Amino acid sequence: MNIKSRQAEIISMSNQKGGVGKTTSCINLAAAMASLNKELKFLIIDLDPQGNASTGFGIKRGERQNNIYDVLTNRVDIKDSIRKTALTNLQIIPATLDLAAAEFELQKSNGWQYILQNNLESVVKNYDYIFIDCPPSLGLLTINSLVVATSIIIPLQCEFFALEGLSHLFNTIEKIKVHLNPKLRIEGILLTMYDKRNNLSKLIESDVRENIGDLVYQTIITRNVALPEASSHGKPIIIYNKDSIGAKAYLNLAIEIYKKYNLSYNVKNLQELVTADE
Ligand SMILES: Nc1ncnc2c1ncn2[C@@H]1O[C@H](COP(=O)(O)OP(=O)(O)O)[C@@H](O)[C@H]1O
Ligand SMILES: [Mg+2]
Repeated sequence: MNIKSRQAEIISMSNQKGGVGKTTSCINLAAAMASLNKELKFLIIDLDPQGNASTGFGIKRGERQNNIYDVLTNRVDIKDSIRKTALTNLQIIPATLDLAAAEFELQKSNGWQYILQNNLESVVKNYDYIFIDCPPSLGLLTINSLVVATSIIIPLQCEFFALEGLSHLFNTIEKIKVHLNPKLRIEGILLTMYDKRNNLSKLIESDVRENIGDLVYQTIITRNVALPEASSHGKPIIIYNKDSIGAKAYLNLAIEIYKKYNLSYNVKNLQELVTADE
């Protein structure tokens, strides 16, 4: 029997800016970590009404009965909302546009900040890592994710206004720590959509490292067209094209995180998983 000794790490992938790589990182970091250590169990919660993480795993809109909105509004037990993915140790709870209504509907209920946490309680023991893909706002859904999370990964797009909005996010995290979740910590800041040919990317990297260096991952996610392609085919990049630059970037990030916590990983797994899917 597999007795789980660790408390699940619940990672909120958040940044109130849209299009910075939250969903892409959620899908591909979770898939990379899951493929490198099959002993660990992963869950992705799609908490964005746009449902891009669900699409990224090939779950079509018409196939999203029993989704996260149904769970948060007590229509469905969370256990009945969990789906398989192409990776045996990675599961997902999908989202639909209905979730947009949750921001409004749930605000009226007492303890709205704890709705996700209360629902997760019964399944959290089944996982080692839970990734929450947040919408591009600091509204009710993102706050619910920050209340239940043990840590947060902030994707930061390497563009001119990258740091704009970061202080607002940091303030929100501080407030959550003081009032709702003292254990919340920043796991890391991830530079995304880096363009090697663009000097601005380099400038932003050095600026970010100078200001908040110890929080920033060594691994940088460069721009790579295989990443949006993989998502449009409903597959994580390690399955769609494991040799792509994007796949290597997210595998490097997964390894950086495993090394940081002295967790084991096996790059051979990757070969097997990809072959199994073909
Ligand atoms: N490293 C990358 N290279 C190229 N395109 C990317 C990269 N990361 C994300 N994208 C694309 O950019 C868009 C926004 O990324 P996404 O992950 O959806 O951001 P968010 O979830 O923060 O809104 C998507 O179309 C996605 O496929
Ligand atoms: Mg997204």
